[in-house]
Amino acid sequence: MNSNFKICVIGMGYVGMSLSLALAEKDYNVTCFDVNKEKIVKLKKGSMYIYEEGFEKSLKKNHNKLTFVEELPKSDFYFICVNTPSLKNGKCDTSRIKDCINNIINISKTATIIIKSTCEIGTCRKMQKMVNKLNANNTVIFSPEFLAQGSAYENSINPDRIVLGGENQKALSILQKIFSAFTQNIYAMDWESAETVKYASNALLATKVSAINEIANLCEKTGANILEVSKAVGEDKRIGKSFLKAGCGFGGSCFEKDLKALMSIAEIHNIDMKVFNATLQANNHQRLTVVEKLKRRLKSLCGKTIAVLGLAFKKGTNDARESVALYVVNELINNRANLKLYDPQACESFKYEFKTKFDKTINENCFYPKIQDAIKNIDACIVLTDWDEIVNLKLKDKNVIIIDGRNCLKYIENSIKVGM
Ligand code: UDX
Repeated sequence: MNSNFKICVIGMGYVGMSLSLALAEKDYNVTCFDVNKEKIVKLKKGSMYIYEEGFEKSLKKNHNKLTFVEELPKSDFYFICVNTPSLKNGKCDTSRIKDCINNIINISKTATIIIKSTCEIGTCRKMQKMVNKLNANNTVIFSPEFLAQGSAYENSINPDRIVLGGENQKALSILQKIFSAFTQNIYAMDWESAETVKYASNALLATKVSAINEIANLCEKTGANILEVSKAVGEDKRIGKSFLKAGCGFGGSCFEKDLKALMSIAEIHNIDMKVFNATLQANNHQRLTVVEKLKRRLKSLCGKTIAVLGLAFKKGTNDARESVALYVVNELINNRANLKLYDPQACESFKYEFKTKFDKTINENCFYPKIQDAIKNIDACIVLTDWDEIVNLKLKDKNVIIIDGRNCLKYIENSIKVGM
């Protein structure tokens, strides 16, 4: 493949970083740009600010193929990987994508622009119109990102599929060639279909989690065991084994945001998305079931010392965006419990997200760098993330009530689980 192409990746978050590393791994030279100069300075020095398996190693290995820059350079291909946060009305904010495109046009009126950021259905067509109105010849392509945090690097190197949306056949076929380095499973389609694939994928995954959580809640009442149930249900190839882990609910920056965005698009078209609305409602309820379980045992949480183990929205990431822990900790504070919080990676993100969401600051003394200190002298313990050190935890004190929100504890027998 023509590695003389000039490729620029805009936005050094999970998506942009994974893409840059994956392209470098396949021998492409990539110029990486981010408006946040601090990030670029760190990356130039070879230091990674995101905790993701494989990132640091790949950065070291491929540093001669990656150039980190503070000014947007001239390129043939620009991959836009900026964030598109939720607006108050549930729609996603695509203003950063628009800004990127305007900046690109000022540098090149012919480069191909590939949007990787999740964006509302109809965005890419609008962006292409905007380009055309500015008398530029840039082609806009949409290529959604399906990576999951915690396995971002692996997902980028070995994607299940690549989706390309657009109208310009020449650009689509060049991109097909570039991405064939990763998989032969490439689907080219129109913009709207590609934009919908992204939302539909996340909506269905989130729904699968909410559905199994509901079955788990029923199992608790009927005496069934959700682990046995999930295993056998997942053997049906039509259903599939993944995303059937019942627990304390889903978190992360994508599921809730994308479900809300999908529903807001549906509303414009007078479609009432009953299933996906229920997916969200069920998750809002599920997040707090661990606290309900504790209340049933302790009656009042006031003055009780409770350890919360796992603040990241899932293991393998230092990201606490929309993590279940945010809602659980807030509920514990509202019930005037004393907190001991532990996470091996996500404390800083948790503090930031908690302050942003609830406008409250948690006392620094509540955070424990060592798990063994977090579980000393406590009345109860709630597990919310299945980090290895949490999974392998051993507790001597038999009087401590343990709520295992991820059904993950290997060596603690008397814990209260979800769906059992
Ligand atoms: C998700 C999509 O999987 C990914 O394709 C998309 O690009 C971004 O959103 P991510 O948010 O990184 O990825 O994590 P994911 O692995 O999907 O998990 C989301 C949440 O669901 C986590 O809180 C996880 O703990 C929870 N989950 C997942 C369950 O509770 N049970 C499961 O069986 C699977």
